[in-house]
Formats: sequence, structure tokens, C-alpha cells
Amino acid sequence: MTAVGRRPGLAVVLVGHNPASEVYVRGKVKASEEVGIYSEQYTPAETATTTELLSLIESLNGRDDIDGILVQLPLPAQVDSKKVLMTVDPAKDIDGFHPVNVGLLSTQRPGLVPCTPAGVMEILRRSNIPIAGQEAVVVGRSDIVGKPVAMLLLNANATVTVCHSKTRDLPAVCQRGDILVAAIGRAGMITRDFVKPGATVIDVGINRISDPAEFQRLFAGNEKREEAFRAKGSVLAGDVHPEVSEMAGAITPVPGGVGPLTIAMLMYNTVKAAKMRRGFLAPELA
Ligand code: GUN
Repeated sequence: MTAVGRRPGLAVVLVGHNPASEVYVRGKVKASEEVGIYSEQYTPAETATTTELLSLIESLNGRDDIDGILVQLPLPAQVDSKKVLMTVDPAKDIDGFHPVNVGLLSTQRPGLVPCTPAGVMEILRRSNIPIAGQEAVVVGRSDIVGKPVAMLLLNANATVTVCHSKTRDLPAVCQRGDILVAAIGRAGMITRDFVKPGATVIDVGINRISDPAEFQRLFAGNEKREEAFRAKGSVLAGDVHPEVSEMAGAITPVPGGVGPLTIAMLMYNTVKAAKMRRGFLAPELA
């Protein structure tokens, strides 16, 4: 970024003490340091009000040295999350959560794309997995992952089905997928009866397992995981049951699959926002 004359700047807002969020934010700040992005962290108390957060965001919107603003979710229950996300300047919305960026994505215009969905597409692209004309099934309809990844797959000419808790005969619908994206937030829910043999399976779930029975259901006989479980009392598991790796054509691991790509795409979006804001990248080329 020497051509721009100044490092891109990232502000991360982490409200309260959600342990998972603290881990994620640590990873994001560390990655920023590694790639040379300037970062600042704000840690309002668990009791923070919507008004307090809005004034913090407004002050960050007004700072010329801050190119990207990330509000780590979930926010505490008393906070109006939608209002907070609406207040982030769309040009600094490196999570791609502002309705302006959601609209740009759904109408195939250049904008800032949510990081985890963008990371999923990057994995598919770099693994040479064909997308156009393929059946893609997305399990989960969140604003953060399910909906935007469905939109990206649709924009890449897949035939997309979005499933959720009310979907009838979920295993049969999932079995249609040449590409199956699991973003439900339930450990090991996608068992082999959900998966077409040879399908590409992308596991977006990150679930902490501390219940021994649940551990056994997922990892019985896996010596490495058993050792980790004994040592730490918990392990991470995806939404896809490990048995699926025996019949999938390709599958992402948890941890170490989609997670690192989410962080990489956050770095990418921060640099992109910095370039766009400084006129080094015409929005239509972004
Ligand atoms: N919480 C879970 N995933 C995300 C994410 O991608 N961005 C933010 N800001 N919060 C999250």
C-alpha cells in the first residue's frame, strides 16, 4: 500500500465478553498486524446501550485514518443490532452487513461482500470446483452466512436451494447438492445420509463440544481428538459429522477450513475499502 501513502486502518468493536467473539477478534487483530493493516480495538462493556454504540460508530465513520469498521456479533440483547449495523458507513462496512452492501450483492453490483461467504467462494475457486450449472444446497439462512453465500453461488450461476429448520425432508433436499454448504450452528448435524457421494462439502460451523456423550457421537476412535478432549475438556467441531469425509468428493476441515479464509477476506475487504475511499479503485472495478 505504499502507493497510497498510508496503511489501511481497521477499527474492531467488541462489546462485552463473549468468549467465542474474543477468540475471533484476537485472530482478526493478529492478522491485521501480520499484513500491515493498522488496527484499533474498542471494547465497550456488556451493559453498553444502543446510543453509546451509535456514537462510537459515528466517530469512527468520521475518521479519515479508519477505512474499515467491524462490529463483532452477536451484540448483547439490549442493543438494537440492526440499528448499529445500519449506522456503519457503507464504504467502511468491511463485513458487508449494511443493507446498501446487501443490495449491491443481490443486484450483482460491486461492493463489500461478507467475509465468510466470500471465503467459501474463494475455497471453491482455488480448488477448481465447478459452480456454474451445479446444484448448490445451503443449509442455514442467516444474514451473515446462509443468505449471502446463496446469493454468491447464484451470481456464479449455480442452481441454489436454501434450507432451514422448517425444510421438509432435509436429508433428501441436501442430497441434491453437488455443493453442500453447512451453516447451521449444530455440531455434526450433517451426517452421511445428507450427502450425495462425491459432493463438495463446505463446513462453516464452529461448535465447541464439552459434553462427553456428544464428543463420543462425533469423534469416538479419533485418537488425536480424544487426547485434546482429555487435555482441554473441549474440542471444536463443525456442522458436518466426520463420517462424511469418507464419501464426500472434497470437504473442508474444522478447525482450519473456512475460518482462516474469513479472516483473509476481512483483510482483503479492508484493503479494498481503503483503496476505494482514496480513489485508487473505481467502485465498478472493485
Ligand atoms: N460473528 C460471527 N461471524 C461474524 C462475522 O463474520 N463478522 C462479525 N462482525 N461478527 C461475526
